[in-house]
Amino acid sequence: MTTQTQHAPARIDWWALLTDPDFLRDPFPALKRIREQAPVHHDAGSDIYFVLGHEAFRSLTRAPEMGRDTRLWTNGWSRPGNEERDPLSYQLFSEFQRQMVNANPPDHRRMRDVFEDALRPASLTRHRPMIEAEVRRLLKAVPDDTPVDFMSAFANHLPLRIVRNLFEIPPEMDAQLAQWNAALLKIGDIMMSPEQKQEALDALRAYKAYLREHLASHRAGAEQGFIGLALAACEHGALDEEEALNNLLGLISGNETTVTLLGNGMLSLLEHPEQLARLRGDTELMRPAVEEMLRYQPALNFILRVAISDFRCAGVHMPAGSLVIGLVPAINRDPARFDDPDVFDVARKPNAHSVFGGGAHVCIGKALARMQASAAFEALLARFPRIELAGEPVWWSDRTNQRGLRNLPMRCSRQRG
Ligand code: HEM
Repeated sequence: MTTQTQHAPARIDWWALLTDPDFLRDPFPALKRIREQAPVHHDAGSDIYFVLGHEAFRSLTRAPEMGRDTRLWTNGWSRPGNEERDPLSYQLFSEFQRQMVNANPPDHRRMRDVFEDALRPASLTRHRPMIEAEVRRLLKAVPDDTPVDFMSAFANHLPLRIVRNLFEIPPEMDAQLAQWNAALLKIGDIMMSPEQKQEALDALRAYKAYLREHLASHRAGAEQGFIGLALAACEHGALDEEEALNNLLGLISGNETTVTLLGNGMLSLLEHPEQLARLRGDTELMRPAVEEMLRYQPALNFILRVAISDFRCAGVHMPAGSLVIGLVPAINRDPARFDDPDVFDVARKPNAHSVFGGGAHVCIGKALARMQASAAFEALLARFPRIELAGEPVWWSDRTNQRGLRNLPMRCSRQRG
């Protein structure tokens, strides 16, 4: 694909760049060069706008002209005739459509209101003991002073166990949930193959069938947690069944992004032993340290918007129906917003990173993600006085939307050494 920036002479082959394994491992140098040309770029080939500047992204997420409903994207999956041309994409995105993340006002607020209070920090406090118990259980199985893959021993499991407890799903479903979630997380990946689309569509249908039965076996009522909230919303007409199922699976699979926070955060600590020592010396630093993990090695690359009506972003005109992609690794290291953006500093304050997006759609699960990460790192540091890298970390190279590790070899020792 031959492409062109709107404001700078350099030609950028966006497709090649965003799928390049070197870029997926370390996107920062390339994005820095592109951001230095301009905070917003237009790819003429795909007619997509890319936002790399912090201020430009902030204005984008807060603009009423910008939404998340991809049906408004002029060149998108629901364009006229696409149902016949590309039935698989059409079915997949239609099946996934009716949930808060894909909704514009007023539907967005109606759906978000059902779950928002239950995900606020004050409401989550009662779940902290459950989260800490799951952390302890997993850490007990981490061998002492022996190389271990942090992802397969710990990070891949914790968010799944927590979310299945919160949604009252039995442990026997762990493997099935993991498979469905992995298939769903590919939605939004520009490298998605037809086979993966089919897999995601099958997963969506099976997931909904399971959740439909799961809902049927519960009684409505907020005291019963998220399932009770969904049932009560159906009873009161705040959600129809399709919306209840889609929002539940959005929440359950959304929680999986926490896997990448745990892995990427762990790697940042291991690669900066002086920052790790600083954090060990002052537990008050855990909160800013988790924010810095989110900023420094963000768990995802893309945040989407679709223009509801014409909008100007950093001087660039975006007509109604445009797809706009915020490139989080660039936004999180914009020197106009962050001093020494390439430095990992566990005490960084303020830290207005953008990995949870912004505006009306800002991640509804951010407090849960933060709670899981702080519980995990607190317990890990307390149990193991010495932790170090034990080999080369391996980044996923088969996904463009998420930034995460396939393997993170490390050694955890119960002796100071
Ligand atoms: C480190 C972990 C996480 C990251 C990096 C993350 C990131 C994001 C981002 C970027 C958005 C879109 C924001 C926007 O468009 O402006 C989002 C929305 C969302 N996230 Fe998360 N998320 C994480 C954890 C979670 C958890 C734990 C849950 C479930 C409890 C969750 C559920 C959702 C849902 C349902 C939305 C849609 C919100 C809306 O459209 O109103 N996420 N998340």
